[in-house]
Amino acid sequence: MAENQKWMQRDLSVVWHPCTQMKDHETYPLIPIKRGEGLWLYDFDGNKYLDGISSWWVNVFGHANPRINQAVKDQLDQLEHVIMAGFTHEPMIELSEELVRITGEGLDYCFYADNGSSCIESALKMSMHYWRNIGEPTKNKFVTFTNSYHGETVGAMSVGDTSLYTQSYKSMLFDTFKVTAPDLYYKVEDETVEAYTLKMFVEMEELIHKHHNEIAAVIIEPLVQCAGGMRMHSPLYLTKLRELCDQYNVHIILDEIAVGFGRTGTMFAHEQANMVPDFLCLSKALTGGYLPMSVCMTSKKVYDAFYRDYHPESVFLHSHSYTGNALACSAALATLSIFRDDNVIEHNQKLIQAFAKYTNPLKDHPNVAEVRQQGMITAIEVVKDKATRESFPWESRIGLKMFNYATQKGLLIRPLGGIVYFNTPYIVTEKDIEWMVNIATDAIDYGHSSS
Ligand SMILES: Cc1ncc(COP(=O)(O)O)c(C=O)c1O
Repeated sequence: MAENQKWMQRDLSVVWHPCTQMKDHETYPLIPIKRGEGLWLYDFDGNKYLDGISSWWVNVFGHANPRINQAVKDQLDQLEHVIMAGFTHEPMIELSEELVRITGEGLDYCFYADNGSSCIESALKMSMHYWRNIGEPTKNKFVTFTNSYHGETVGAMSVGDTSLYTQSYKSMLFDTFKVTAPDLYYKVEDETVEAYTLKMFVEMEELIHKHHNEIAAVIIEPLVQCAGGMRMHSPLYLTKLRELCDQYNVHIILDEIAVGFGRTGTMFAHEQANMVPDFLCLSKALTGGYLPMSVCMTSKKVYDAFYRDYHPESVFLHSHSYTGNALACSAALATLSIFRDDNVIEHNQKLIQAFAKYTNPLKDHPNVAEVRQQGMITAIEVVKDKATRESFPWESRIGLKMFNYATQKGLLIRPLGGIVYFNTPYIVTEKDIEWMVNIATDAIDYGHSSS
């Protein structure tokens, strides 16, 4: 029996995989990975797969990156982990100093958790608790965008709106105010981006004007709604939102868990809007894709509202066991040093152009409604009918078909329904991009013709 097959059988008898209809593995094989190096993942039978989606958008400098490996190895001999209440350690202090330095004025403190969803929970609780601490307890609701995704825990799902992930759990979730996302996919051709964005902003203005006394914060994935299908909006909306929220005393929580660290072309998405949020949530690429860690950054103003003599109702009694894990901090420090030393954001501009060059011809494909790009994220919207933009029904399983086709050719993509996207590590070359787009085009042809 082939090695892959043996591992697959052992796995399927004991493991329940995330975001997976396990019965699909009766038809589509699970791929056991033996090792990773650079862009490539290698299975047990000698096949290799280019990681075109950075293993759920976490990896930025390749698998087994020698510089990150060395940093984690060095840290391992010093300290693997220590309780973060009452104790601290060098890599966490250095990382926090560096994050405060690079995120812009007004993000002064770092609160750590161990994954993106729990970072969102921290931000929601901190915002609501801030208003309570300063004597405005009615400000306890949140405003979210339609089609938003902020994670899988109950609070994160409550502020999300991707029904695919939340509809089964609706009865567990708390209510939020929903505002239509200024998704540029719905902009009509002869409308300018500015006119469309300002038109979409009116709904937010009216809501905040009417309900600001009940609202703690607006939570948004800036520039790209990733899990919602890599849908994009203009930074103008965020600039306007900052003015509005300042006027009405409402917090902004920016969820840059997926889009931070260069994904949108700048180090952080909010830089493009010339604004700073009250809370910035970061995770995924924070550790280069090595170890689970997240950080909720906030202002001195928020921090100071909790800085007082002990009282059980005013202290932020929130913790996670692996908060500030020393190995994860060392991976994050090494990742940030690569960004700095290698001028990564500048270097990426060439890759951004290469993605545009090779994917633009797909705009003429008879089953492609749109090719859109924001920095290092490029998405191709594959539809049943180009004229009406009718999507393929979920029953067609077009995403799974395209995934399976591409993996057989050695490319790992994981389409979101009919949306094929690239979100690669930054060590990709122009040649890799050309190759990936060719395979993805064949996968699209196979997907729609068999759906
Ligand atoms: C924008 C955004 N927020 C939050 C999360 C949740 O992060 P995690 O999967 O680490 O819980 C994700 C995950 O994809 C995300 O894309």
